[in-house]
Amino acid sequence: MNSASFIRYAGTAVAATMIGVACTAPPTSVTDPGRRTAPSAAPTWVKVSVDLPTSGVEFPAGQDADLANVQCLICHSAGMVLRQPALTKEQWRAEVIKMRSAFGALIPDGQVEAVTDYLHRINGR
Ligand code: HEC
Repeated sequence: MNSASFIRYAGTAVAATMIGVACTAPPTSVTDPGRRTAPSAAPTWVKVSVDLPTSGVEFPAGQDADLANVQCLICHSAGMVLRQPALTKEQWRAEVIKMRSAFGALIPDGQVEAVTDYLHRINGR
C-alpha cells in the first residue's frame, strides 16, 4: 500500500498522525478542518476507590521471616514454599542449596541455616 492510498482510507486522527510521521510533505489531512471533529464534551472525572486484596505472597511472620522474604521472593511467591508438603530440616536445607545451585539464588552461606530453620518452623515435619 502506498501512502496516497493510505491517506484515502485513513479516517481517524490516529491514522493522520501516522501519516504525518510517514510522509516528508506536510500532511494536508491533519490541517484540513473538514476532517477533524471537535471534542464533544470535556471529560468528567469521577473519584473511585478500590480495595485491593492483601497479596498473601509474603512469608508468614516470625523469626527470620525477613530473610526468606528477601532471599526467596526475588524469584517466586511464598506459595511456592507453603504449597509444598511438610519437609524435614534436612530436606529444607537441601531445597535451599538447590535454589542456589540449580537456579542461581544468592543466599549467602551464613544465612542457609537460619533460612532452613525458618522454613522448617513454618512447614516442617
Ligand atoms: C534465583 C531464583 C530463585 C530464588 C532466589 C529462589 N528460588 Fe525457589 N525456585 C526457583 C525456581 C526457578 C523454581 C522452580 C519453579 C518451577 O519448577 O516451576 C523454584 C522452586 C522452588 C520450590 C518448589 C520445589 C522445587 O524444588 O522446585 C521451593 C520449595 C522453593 N523454590 C523454595 C525456595 C526458597 C525457600 C527460597 C529462598 C531461600 C527460594 N526458593 C529462592 C527459583 C528461585
